[in-house]
Amino acid sequence: MFGQVEAFAGDPILSLNDSFKADPRDEKVNLSIGVYTDEKGRLPVLGSVRAAYERLGFAERPYLPMEGHPLYREGVQKLVFGAAHPALTDKRVATIQTLGGTGAVGIAADFLAKHCPGRTVLVSDPTWDNHHGLFQRAGFTTATYPYWDRANRSVDFTGMLKALDAAEAGSIVVLQPVCHNPTGVDLDEAQQAAVTDVLVAKGHIAVFDMAYQGFGASLDEDAAFVRRYAERASCLVANSFSKNFSLYGERCGGLSVVCRDADEAERVLGQLKLAVRRSYSSPPMMAGLLVATVLGDEGLRAQWSREVDEMRTRMDAMRKRLAEQIRALSNEADASFLTSQRGMFSFTGLSEQQVTAMRERDGVYLVGSGRMCVAGLTEANVPKVAKSFVEASQA
Ligand code: LMR
Repeated sequence: MFGQVEAFAGDPILSLNDSFKADPRDEKVNLSIGVYTDEKGRLPVLGSVRAAYERLGFAERPYLPMEGHPLYREGVQKLVFGAAHPALTDKRVATIQTLGGTGAVGIAADFLAKHCPGRTVLVSDPTWDNHHGLFQRAGFTTATYPYWDRANRSVDFTGMLKALDAAEAGSIVVLQPVCHNPTGVDLDEAQQAAVTDVLVAKGHIAVFDMAYQGFGASLDEDAAFVRRYAERASCLVANSFSKNFSLYGERCGGLSVVCRDADEAERVLGQLKLAVRRSYSSPPMMAGLLVATVLGDEGLRAQWSREVDEMRTRMDAMRKRLAEQIRALSNEADASFLTSQRGMFSFTGLSEQQVTAMRERDGVYLVGSGRMCVAGLTEANVPKVAKSFVEASQA
């Protein structure tokens, strides 16, 4: 009956993570999947989240509403937009709790497929592979706008702006406002303003995917692009708590749609609820309660913010450490990209062949595109990674 079913080629990130787990070598290093581990290589349980968990205990578990926990949704809005944002005071943002950032982008794609069908979806070149997949699953054709300037290891801003301007009016444009995955390079404030001008002038629909809020500069600074954009125009914002709450398996995210007015937001919220009902009915309770409890309590919120700062500081320190060690081993290998890029990822410029060599020879796992998750570096594994990197670059 299912003889015609094709084999799954595997996911470039998740399947690699499976291979890492199956690798019997003790000295292996996982710099593939975007997961933050601490100095000891462990997934942290944040003190703020543990305190929320202890406070909650195990109570009854009714279904959450389709749109999610009300305090969670309020927490998402304040975190993403800032409590005093005019779009919030005007009550023109429709927010739902989602199954992680992926779930948020997925529901955004479903919503747009139904209400703005037939448009082209533009994503950055390169981008997180699943951006293509999620919009294609919803029925869209995806295309790319230039983003990565390989020669200068920076944003190809001229190319990007030109492509967005040349795109058919009303296209859907997926943007990562901070800690771009996979390159680690972001637009500066002037570039963000120029992109906003083009998107608004062309009537494009901006879909922000903000999966790393707090890992760039700070929780507030990282959201600045989204906040300024939402003062100018309608947009969709997917956000994730997987990384900044270290709640990967709980699947915590949010989708906010900034609308023209409160009436429009009410109707959009209804359609988002319908999209959820048709897909998975309602989001999980524990995820909602944990995040809502932290974001809704002044003390826990402040503690969490400090914990996010600590994770960011450690990643920045590891970037410096690896760059130093690479320089100590080689005068030729260029390590400057490590400290000029930010967030969880660095684009090393290594080819797929070089990445494969690192994995097979040394058990150092990077994604095939050359993306390195710096959040997996520790004082203990940096020397091994530096040596493996230098040998691969010289091969
Ligand atoms: C990544 O890019 O590694 C993460 O966002 C995890 C994922 O779902 O791909």
